This record gives sequence, C-alpha cells and structure tokens, in this order.
Amino acid sequence: MNLADLNKVARAMVTPGKGILAADESSGTIKKRFDAIKVESTEENRRDYREMLFRSQEAMSKYISGVILYDETIWQNAKDGTPLVKLIEQAGAIPGIKVDEGTQPLPACPGELVTVGLDKLAERLKKYYERGARFAKWRAVIDIGSGTDGRGIPSMTAIRVNAHALARYAALCQAAQIVPIVEPEVLMDGDNDIDRCYDVTQRVLNKTFQELRVQRVALEGMILKPNMAISGKKCAKQASVAEVAEKTVRLLKSCVPAAVPGIAFLSGGQSDEEATAHLDAMNKIGNLPWPLTFSYGRALQAAPQKAWSGKAGNVPAGQQAFSHRARMNGLASTGKWDA
Ligand code: 13P
Repeated sequence: MNLADLNKVARAMVTPGKGILAADESSGTIKKRFDAIKVESTEENRRDYREMLFRSQEAMSKYISGVILYDETIWQNAKDGTPLVKLIEQAGAIPGIKVDEGTQPLPACPGELVTVGLDKLAERLKKYYERGARFAKWRAVIDIGSGTDGRGIPSMTAIRVNAHALARYAALCQAAQIVPIVEPEVLMDGDNDIDRCYDVTQRVLNKTFQELRVQRVALEGMILKPNMAISGKKCAKQASVAEVAEKTVRLLKSCVPAAVPGIAFLSGGQSDEEATAHLDAMNKIGNLPWPLTFSYGRALQAAPQKAWSGKAGNVPAGQQAFSHRARMNGLASTGKWDA
C-alpha cells in the first residue's frame, strides 16, 4: 500500500467546492427510480441516463470530484463507444465503485441487516482498479426502531458485525490501492427524534472507528460517509436546519479523528434543498478538523431524472437540472450557499 497516494486521492475527493455523485444504484434501486418517471429499466436506458449525467460538462468539471458507479456501469460504454469511466476521467473527476453486494437478514436479530460481499472482494478490487476505479464504497445499514422482541433496534450485534465488515472491506481496499468510502448509514425512516439518531449514530461511529483501528486501516487513506444527526421522517417534531447542523458537527467532532481526510454525507431521503441547506449550515459553523462535503444520490439526481424522463430531447434539460443541484451543493461545501 502506498499511503501517500491513497491520501492524495482521498483529499481530491473532498476538494473544497466539490463533492461526490453517488450514481451507484443497484439494478433494483434504479428500477424504482425509473418507475417513478415511467421509464423502462433496460440496460440501454440505464446507460443513456448515466451518460447524460457524466457528459454534463459544467457539473462534472466544476462541482463533482468523483462518481460512485455500480458494477454494470463501470463496464459500459457510451453510445459512441467511449467507456463511461473515460467520460468521468476526461471531465477531471475520479471514478469509484460500489463493491458491497447488498444486505441480508442478520441471523437471530429480527428486522436487522448485515451487508455482504467480502468473498472474493480482493480479486474484484484488482479488476476495478485496472478499469480505472480509485475509490470504492461499502454501505452498512443500521435501522432505528423498537424491534419485535422488545430488545430494541439497533442491537449491539448489528452494530458490531456491520462495523467488522466495513473494516474488513476498508483494509482490502487499501491493500488494492483503492480509497475506501466507509458508509455506516443510520436510517432516517423512523419516528425517532434527532437525539435518538444522535445517540445511535454515536455508537455506530465509535464502533466503526474501533474496528478500523483493530484491522489496521490507515485513517489518512479513507473517506467517511455518514448520515447527519436528523429527526426520523415520521417524527412529529422535525429539528430545524440549525439544530441538525449544530448536532451533526458536535457528533462528528466527538467521534471522527482529525486524521480522516474528509467527510462526505449521504442524503438518505432528505429533499434536495434540505440536503443542501444542512451541508451549508454545517460549513457556515466553520473551524472544522476535516472538509465536509456531499456524496449524494437522490438529492443530486431527483431533479435531472424528472427533467429527463427518458426522452433524448430532454437531455439538455436533465443536464441543466443536474448542474444546478451540483452547483448548489458545491457552494454548500464551502458554506457559501444562499437559500
Ligand atoms: P442518497 O444520497 O440517496 O442517500 O444515496 C447516497 C448513497 O450512496 C447511499 O449509499
């Protein structure tokens, strides 16, 4: 492992004013997104849609530092035969790859999940590196809830096994000269308040960094992709933008070592504007040990998906919608966004 090179890539991923486009929806997830805009999820449509994003010159060259791809996409070529990976590189952004293989029910923990995909990961990483990937992503999913057996969710079991898998993945990435994005996502779907989200996220992050240390992952060669401290979607009392920003910054300062080169948030079901406003408010607080930026999927793509709606004639409108959201989030990454 060459840690100086890993660190260089990690720092480029969180360049001030730029952030990451998460375009790594699995086939099942992109089908859901396409269903919503009444587009059939064929291999060609998925390619055309992603080609539209990667050819958005303004967004890609000014506001996007890297793109997370799904396995299908990393091997695909644009309509004119250019590998999609090359389009990303030509725009000055870094190609990345989602390497987890989704979740499975966690035995003896009803309602909880463990992320899988470690088998043969070392070999897969080698092939992805040869294709141009310089970073990877693995997402662990932690839910908050009351549970069916009265013991409450998340269990310590779910937190531990997911942290262990994240660290195994991160160590394998670094050995393959690929920067791991470590993503322990605490979901925001429940009726819990922001303080419960804060507590659970704190436990999850502490356990994740403990495992990263145990497995000798170099913190200088990784990026953290956390959720924000935020109210559950079904909670009657929704925390304000200022409260989300203040609590998220406090939480991260208490759990994330300064050696980590940067933090890139997931949007997790927040609206486009909320995701931008929260990031901006955190950066306006300032005086942080790491750059805080975005690694958004839905909050960057909802608008372009709607504008495009599967029609070739709508490509310019789709690109414009994408560039707009990318620019707003780029501004938020330096605390310069105005509502
Ligand atoms: P969202 O921003 O839609 O949560 O997606 C980001 C991501 O990559 C989740 O793994």
